[in-house]
Amino acid sequence: MPMHNAAHFNGIKEAPLKAIIPAAGLGTRFLPATKAVPKEMLLVVDRPAIQYVVEEGLASAADEVIIVNSHDKQAIEEHFSPDPALVELLRERGKDSLADKVEYVGNLPVTFVYQDEALGLGHAVLCAAQASAGEPFYVLLGDVLVPNNKMLPAMQAVSDAHGGASVIAVMPVPDDEVSRFGVIDGEEAEPGVWKIASLVEKPPVEEAPTNLAVFGRYLLSPRIMEILADVKPGVGGEIQLTDAMAQLLDEEEMYALVIDPTDGFDTGTPQSWLDSNIAIAKMQA
Ligand code: G1P
Repeated sequence: MPMHNAAHFNGIKEAPLKAIIPAAGLGTRFLPATKAVPKEMLLVVDRPAIQYVVEEGLASAADEVIIVNSHDKQAIEEHFSPDPALVELLRERGKDSLADKVEYVGNLPVTFVYQDEALGLGHAVLCAAQASAGEPFYVLLGDVLVPNNKMLPAMQAVSDAHGGASVIAVMPVPDDEVSRFGVIDGEEAEPGVWKIASLVEKPPVEEAPTNLAVFGRYLLSPRIMEILADVKPGVGGEIQLTDAMAQLLDEEEMYALVIDPTDGFDTGTPQSWLDSNIAIAKMQA
């Protein structure tokens, strides 16, 4: 049974949850574009990619977003900092709607912690352990955008229905892509929801238990932070969040919400970034 505070998920929310966004990666797939500009700051239609992810977290019951940044990527912090001089200049020039946009983004409740060594996703999440304050938390990977903001509430509902268990989003992927992802095994508990029996990070296709890939949205028990502190490096020599979740399964139930590929937009490669720009622009038109 889940060991964390179930009261959280039963309508007695003592404090809204935190959303952790790992953003310290090198963005190598986008070089040379990401030599001076953080990948998270690349434009998607009308704002930097990471702004969508922050807005999703805040639209979905998180009261604060914690970005795990590296000290080399100051542009992310500048984007979420107030700039009264720019706001004043825009207002003087009668550009109030732009001033409002600048003011809005500078006032979003975003805080920063740092990961200055690329030791893996699990390590990035662990860097926010203190800030998540022993409560359940969301993790949102910035490679995927969910502009309709519906995924986290759907995951929260699954958690509520299962006593506050951890819930991750998974997406069916073609067999030749499973080795790029974390993959789950288990059985369908109800339509579209699996009870997870095991998890494996980036398995060779012949060892993948299913084609349900971990998609980049997590609602996790605080116990995961304690496990992460002791997890040994896994695939790629990195501390893997998937390995910590696999250990969590020895102690707590976990569920997976199967999401529709059209619910999220992948921006993880130049081609998918381009496709997502077009799709989101059409959505906003
Ligand atoms: C990470 C996770 C993996 C997940 C993927 C989703 O991998 O480790 O389990 O499936 O994100 O995008 P990465 O893409 O950082 O290698």
